[in-house]
Amino acid sequence: METAIERVLLTEEEIKKRIKEIAYEIKKDFPKGDIILIGVLKGSVMFVADLMRALDFNVTMDFMAVSSYGNSSETSGIVRILKDLDFDIEGKDVIIVEDIIDTGTTLKYLYEYLKARNPKTLKICCLLDKPERRKVNIEADYVGFKIPDAFVVGYGLDYAEKFRNLPYVGILKEDIYKK
Ligand code: PRP
Ligand code: MN
Ligand code: MG
Repeated sequence: METAIERVLLTEEEIKKRIKEIAYEIKKDFPKGDIILIGVLKGSVMFVADLMRALDFNVTMDFMAVSSYGNSSETSGIVRILKDLDFDIEGKDVIIVEDIIDTGTTLKYLYEYLKARNPKTLKICCLLDKPERRKVNIEADYVGFKIPDAFVVGYGLDYAEKFRNLPYVGILKEDIYKK
């Protein structure tokens, strides 16, 4: 698995430290807690789990499953909802948690979709942001790291469902996805 990685972009320690800082920002914005984190399956799973544990107040989680990439390395531009929320978010403080904003297609769609359910506040928190790749206009309220346009995997991010379990974020070797 490691042999497929060109180089480590973000170490486990760097990610952990940044998540603590993001949690601090969230706590400043929502001092009373009672927020709902909505993870977007499957990429955000590690991030939701770690962010939630860094928030030492009442926080609940829910998940949505959407897909626009499938097993391809290029976005199809079409977002499909595979699993919707289990709970009503009307009047609630909600943060969508994502691993990465790439073209922005997924988050733009989800943001509009969830906004229509009238949450009290709706924010976006994403670990990685690739601004160079943006196709639609969407910005996160909390961003872990702005990263260059490279194919990254690990810490939830996959290539063809693999590499999600790497504890760091690494750049995938070109011959892996070009073959
Ligand atoms: C990836 C990633 C984001 C999205 C970002 O998910 O986890 O959700 O693509 O791309 P975008 O900004 O161009 O929409 P993917 O569809 O690969 O599903 P996964 O989370 O299950 O890997
Ligand atoms: Mn995803
Ligand atoms: Mg993926």
